[in-house]
Amino acid sequence: MPAKNIEELVALCKRRGFIFQSNEIYGGVQGLYDYGPLGVELKNNIKNSWWKSMVYDRDDVEGLDAAILTKQAVLQYSGHEETFTDPLVDCRSCGGRFRADQVPDNCKEEDLTEPRQFNLMFRTNIGPVDDGKTFAYLRPETAQQIFTNFKNVVDSTSKSIPFGIAQIGKAFRNEITLKSFIFRVREFEQMELEFFVEPGTDEKWHKEWVEHRLSWWEAQGVPKNKLVLYEVPKDELAHYSKATVDLMYEFPHGIEELEGIANRTDFDLGSHSKNQDELNITAKVKKNKDSNSKLAIKEPHMKDWVVPYVIEPSAGVDRALLAIINEAYKEEKVGDSSRVVLSFKPHLSPIKAAVIPLKKNNDKMVSLAKQIKNDLQKLGLGRVVLENSGNIGKSYRRHDEVGTPLCITIDFESLENSDVTVRDRDTMKQDRVNIKNLKDFFLEYF
Ligand code: GAP
Repeated sequence: MPAKNIEELVALCKRRGFIFQSNEIYGGVQGLYDYGPLGVELKNNIKNSWWKSMVYDRDDVEGLDAAILTKQAVLQYSGHEETFTDPLVDCRSCGGRFRADQVPDNCKEEDLTEPRQFNLMFRTNIGPVDDGKTFAYLRPETAQQIFTNFKNVVDSTSKSIPFGIAQIGKAFRNEITLKSFIFRVREFEQMELEFFVEPGTDEKWHKEWVEHRLSWWEAQGVPKNKLVLYEVPKDELAHYSKATVDLMYEFPHGIEELEGIANRTDFDLGSHSKNQDELNITAKVKKNKDSNSKLAIKEPHMKDWVVPYVIEPSAGVDRALLAIINEAYKEEKVGDSSRVVLSFKPHLSPIKAAVIPLKKNNDKMVSLAKQIKNDLQKLGLGRVVLENSGNIGKSYRRHDEVGTPLCITIDFESLENSDVTVRDRDTMKQDRVNIKNLKDFFLEYF
């Protein structure tokens, strides 16, 4: 049985140290969350899996980690200053402030003010002087600094199109209406790829990336049949997009966007480029008077300079984590009792194995457990913990609930025969494995 509602997941996340309300001891701040000891492991594992699939497993993608603070000019030419807004209304009766399309049913139409546009970007100053004129933004998407670094990456790696630049990092949006735990928050992480292609090949690449991303989600435990492909209608497309396919997932609160895969055309490179008039830019871009870089390429087979089109798969890490926990969550009957299990794919599990001495005060057992823990930890496959609570049943339940695939128990026999019990989280089956074979067993399992 999956989670009944979001509250069950929120309670589990807090109880077991995945996610906490940020600034909680001072009353918290809406739309901000902190990732605890297991949350940070799960998040890192998701990001590593994305990076492996998008960068390491390919020869046509390079990585980037750009600054979060972004000069105003970047977000001016990108169109965010003008268009990254939501319509905001106030309710004169309850004093609430809402996105115009998300007003609660109990607010009456006649109590609402006329909608006004509210820009979602956080603004701040760089340096000690606040002259009200020069300022920066916290980036609302990681994508823009990929575009501004286009020439740096091309020059330093000699890449030619088709190729991509991948980035994982924080993004900030001053959302008016927050939603469903970590689904819509004000500070979140994105995993974005900007894939640069020759104009005319963009539609083929767009389809290819949709397929590629569906396969990745499947490998993270979110199967294709749980995702709905939504072709965003023309009148709902973002200002930069020619076509966008949203991967929609059935979150506990309803079917919503998990990832967007957009065909951004030559809008972005065209917007940030100098000498725009000399380039055959197809998108409608603002005249750029400030850029000092021509964001175009000329390869041997090309007659003229070309501004590449961009295909962008863009996924939120926080939404990924929510979908992955939701899919992994199970409540099962075991005899007369029940257990909660997070059946994560092994590569995503925050803890790979718990090593458990049967008797917490038996020095020989504890010392053997420590040695096994250290040996397995050295394999570098993720976190291995020593669990010395002295209550084997409770240890198994705790590790089922946080998704640890393997529990390795050291008992009296282990001291005599040099073998241990390995318990599988999903089947609860227990096998005896000789300690000298444990490393190979572990390597094969992960
Ligand atoms: N660069 C394109 C872009 O930012 P987006 O659809 O606005 O497109 C991409 O965002 C992804 O980022 C979304 O599919 C979602 O997973 C995540 N995301 C966007 N806003 C978010 C928010 N306020 N809280 C959590 N995740 C968010």
